[in-house]
Amino acid sequence: MVAIRASLATLFLAACASAQQLSSTLTQIKDFGPNPRNVTMYIYVPKNITTNAPIMVVPHWCHGTAKDAFNGRPYASLGDQYGFISIYPDSPNKADQCWDVSSNASLTHNGGGDALSIVNMVRWTIEKYGADKDRVFVTGTSSGAMMTNVLLGSYPDVFAAGSAWAGVAFGCFAGNGYDVWSDACATGKIIKNGTEWAAMVKNAFPGYTGFRPKMQVLHGTADTVLYPQNLMEEIKEWTSVFGYSETPEETTKDTPLKGWTRYSYGPKFEAYEAAGVTHDIPNQADLVMDWFDLKCKATMSRMCYSRASG
Ligand SMILES: *[C@@H]1O[C@H](CO)[C@@H](O)[C@H](O)[C@H]1NC(C)=O
Ligand SMILES: *[C@@H]1O[C@H](CO)[C@@H](O)[C@H](O)[C@H]1NC(C)=O
Ligand SMILES: *[C@@H]1O[C@H](CO)[C@@H](O)[C@H](O)[C@H]1NC(C)=O
Ligand SMILES: *[C@@H]1O[C@H](CO)[C@@H](O)[C@H](O)[C@H]1NC(C)=O
Repeated sequence: MVAIRASLATLFLAACASAQQLSSTLTQIKDFGPNPRNVTMYIYVPKNITTNAPIMVVPHWCHGTAKDAFNGRPYASLGDQYGFISIYPDSPNKADQCWDVSSNASLTHNGGGDALSIVNMVRWTIEKYGADKDRVFVTGTSSGAMMTNVLLGSYPDVFAAGSAWAGVAFGCFAGNGYDVWSDACATGKIIKNGTEWAAMVKNAFPGYTGFRPKMQVLHGTADTVLYPQNLMEEIKEWTSVFGYSETPEETTKDTPLKGWTRYSYGPKFEAYEAAGVTHDIPNQADLVMDWFDLKCKATMSRMCYSRASG
């Protein structure tokens, strides 16, 4: 397994060589508040940021780093253009750089784990920059997508939306420890019905009945690292959380690329199935930006998507 995950890192790095023209630099923040797991925080704040800027959290993949995610995704330069801050956490699991998506701590609201450390980075940024607490977003690939599922499940009170690329459902890696690799989940053998998955999400924050962030999930049908069954499990989980039918309301073929199919289940959940695509799924920043409504300029007649409007 380690060998497979190492070769993946190479793939991602090869795809991540694009240079960004940036107004500012990536900065490490040492004291951002309670950090039970010693997760390292990096932040990118555009030079001409105004108050109420949205925040985008970009957790890296296994064997990747905060800097790899910063260099390999265009969100810093898009932040310059559209006025949002991006946060790049770095995993404390130095053996494999995977996120803690297994511990009960991470799978519990304010329970600790890597998830709480990341949320405390968000809380610090809102305070420090007067950022918009109603427009906090998270997107990641692979382990970063697993963390996206975990953050939306454990912190529905913090995030406005998530976009998970080639990940697994919230709770699928649940295990005893902070860095458990679940072969059973990875190979698509952890199968539950929507009610069971949704119960895991709801148990993460018992009694919470407030706003739930919307979710976008994407997966390749030729993924041999996190088998495509995991897309089905994410679909069952989130449709059940939102009370949607598991039958899509709308199916759109060949979007955004040939062979990719978009299934929309309702305003808060959509899934993309990418035919023939492996675990090295090519990230499409436009899809993420549109889902998060981050190109929006508010006008009298149009509010941008946020926890308050959505
Ligand atoms: C975090 O770092 C502190 C200070 O270096 C150390 O005492 C503590 O044991 C670390 N915690 C974890 C979970 O690694
Ligand atoms: C910040 O400045 C750049 C360069 O002048 C400009 O393109 C961008 O639109 C500005 N961003 C915001 C949010 O105003
Ligand atoms: C998970 O953690 C929460 C909060 O720390 C605790 O209340 C709960 O009992 C734990 N659940 C399990 C199964 O260990
Ligand atoms: C889901 O699984 C649970 C527990 O196995 C079962 O009780 C329930 O009937 C199932 N729900 C559906 C809709 O199949």
